[in-house]
Amino acid sequence: MKNFAKRLISILMVVIMMAGISVNAFAADNTTAKALQFNKDGKFRIMHVTDTHLDVDNVDASVWLIAQACDKEKPDLVVVTGDNVQNEDDAAKTKNYIDKLMSVFQERNIPTAVTFGNHDSEVGAMSREDLMAYYNTYSCSVSLDDGPAISGCGTYNIPVISSDGSKVKFNVWVFDSNDYDGNGHYGNVKADQVEWYKQKSDELKAANGGEVVYSLAFQHIIVPEVYDALKKADGKQLFSFEHIINKGEYYMFDPNGINFGTLNETPCSGYENDGQFDAMVEKGDVLAMFTGHDHTNAFGVKHKGIDIVNSLSTRYNGDAFSSQYGYRILDIDENDTSKYTSRVEHWYDMFTVKDIDTLRKSGDDYGWKLALDVTFKGFFQKYFDLACRQIVSVFSGRQITYAD
Ligand SMILES: [Fe+2]
Repeated sequence: MKNFAKRLISILMVVIMMAGISVNAFAADNTTAKALQFNKDGKFRIMHVTDTHLDVDNVDASVWLIAQACDKEKPDLVVVTGDNVQNEDDAAKTKNYIDKLMSVFQERNIPTAVTFGNHDSEVGAMSREDLMAYYNTYSCSVSLDDGPAISGCGTYNIPVISSDGSKVKFNVWVFDSNDYDGNGHYGNVKADQVEWYKQKSDELKAANGGEVVYSLAFQHIIVPEVYDALKKADGKQLFSFEHIINKGEYYMFDPNGINFGTLNETPCSGYENDGQFDAMVEKGDVLAMFTGHDHTNAFGVKHKGIDIVNSLSTRYNGDAFSSQYGYRILDIDENDTSKYTSRVEHWYDMFTVKDIDTLRKSGDDYGWKLALDVTFKGFFQKYFDLACRQIVSVFSGRQITYAD
C-alpha cells in the first residue's frame, strides 16, 4: 500500500510537471501572443496585408477586396504591417477605418496580428499605444502592446503549435520598426528589440529540446542589408534604383543571387542599423522577413540564408496604378518547417469574368462593379508593365522579373 501511494504521488508529480512545462511553453505574456495551431492537415497559411493607408477615398474598396481575398484564401493568420490608416488627424475617423478593416477579420474569425509603420501615429491623433488598444478591442486580434520597456509598440511573437497540440512547431515574429530616427529618416528595429528577439529565440530553442524553432518575421521597414544582396549598377540604368543612404549609387537584382518577384523602387530602409539582421543570421531561426513600406515592391532576395522580402500595398484607390497592388500568401507545412512557399496576388488577377457575373447575379451591386473596375483597369496596367519589362530585358540583356 505504501509503495502504491508512493508510485501514485510520483505519477501525479510527473503529470503536474508536464502540465507545468506545457502551459509554460505556450504561455502568453505581453511579448508572446496566445499560441495558434497548425490545421488538422498540418498546414498553416498566413496572409500578409500592408500599407492599406485607409482613407475616405479608398477604405470601402480596399476593405471589400481584402474581404474577398480572405474568403478565397482562408488564411489561418493575417499579419498587418503598418501604415494601416492614412495620416488621420481625427481619432473618430481613424477608429472608423480600423473598424472597417478589423470587421473583415472578426466576421470571419481570422486571428489578426497588427504592427505599425511610419505613418500610423505620425499626426498624433492616436499614439501607437492608443491604436493598439483599439485594435485589441477586437477579439480576433492577437496583437500585443509590448509595454514601455521595449522600444515602439507592437513587437511580439506568435507561437504556432503542432496539429496534435504537443509542441511549438513554428513561430511568427512581429516587430515595430518604429517611425523615424532623430534626423527624420525612416526608423528601424532598435537595439533593445534586438536583445528581446535574441532572448526569446533562445527560450524557444531551449523549450524545443535545443532545436531551432523556424519562423517568419514581419515588420514595416526593410533592413539595410537588402543592398548587400543586390548588385551595384554601373551608373544609373533602367530598373536600377538609388541607394537610400549612399546617394549616387544605383542597385539592381544580382544575376548571381537568388531573386524573386519584381523590384520597382528604392528599398527605403532606415539609416540606422542596430543589428537586427545580423542577430537573425546568428540565431538561425528566421527563414524570411516580410516588409511593406515600399508600395510597389514585390520582390525578395536571399542573403546569408534569410529571404528579405517586400510585399505590395494592400489597397485600391480606384486607378489603374493601384490595380497592381494586392497581398502575399505564405504556406507552411508542419512536416517540414525549414521551408515555406510564397506567392503574390494582385487585385487585377483576382476575378474572372465568371466571378464578376456570379457577383452580379448575387445582387452585390457594389462588389461586381468594383471587381469589373479593378479587372478592366488592371488589364492595361498589367500588360503595359509586362511589355516595359520585356523591352528593358531585351535591350539590356538583364533579367528584370523573376518568379514570385
Ligand atoms: Fe506606406
